[in-house]
Amino acid sequence: MACPVNNTVELNPTLLPLEWLLGTWECDEPGEGSFPTIKPFRYTETLHFSHVGQPVINFMFNAFHAESKKPMHRECGFVRMQPGTNRVAFIIAQNSGLVEIEEGELTGQQLSLQSQQLARISFAKEPYVKQICRVFQLRPDGKLEQTVSMATDNQPLMQHLRITYRRS
Ligand code: HEM
Repeated sequence: MACPVNNTVELNPTLLPLEWLLGTWECDEPGEGSFPTIKPFRYTETLHFSHVGQPVINFMFNAFHAESKKPMHRECGFVRMQPGTNRVAFIIAQNSGLVEIEEGELTGQQLSLQSQQLARISFAKEPYVKQICRVFQLRPDGKLEQTVSMATDNQPLMQHLRITYRRS
């Protein structure tokens, strides 16, 4: 896929295994959010993955309240791939004050990531997240699915989010 900033920039060959991720993805129906300590909720989300010719994917994830459409959770960051391997790293900043490094593997068109490092602002809301596991999968029907599980100070690892997107 061409670079959206400058159409003449070729995708860096390191990123060819992740080419399927590039572009804009809109959720096809509201995602489902849950956790034992909160009321289940629904949300919409748009994902943007782009590049500027570097061996790096730039991304922005913007989530909204399903009914009021108000902006909610937002994340942005970078994806890097270790050349010649299937190792992938996500470097992420979240609007909640959390920053994280997730690493994992690309298998076919599935990315399975686990948090390696988490840090937060000094006045972040409790409970604190202790661990994050995230899976992106391009399904045979062309839809992208994301699931996010987390563990907090007081809850073991459990699913927080599940959502599917179609390419827009
Ligand atoms: C609650 C983390 C993404 C919506 C929470 C809580 C944590 C958390 C720690 C508090 C749980 C508790 O009170 O026990 C995260 C992390 C995310 C993420 C680490 C990404 C990796 C999202 C997204 C949405 C969302 C994309 C979509 C709108 C909510 C809502 C609540 C919540 C509505 C309950 C109310 C609240 O505490 O604000 N999340 N979240 N979260 N999250 Fe997420």
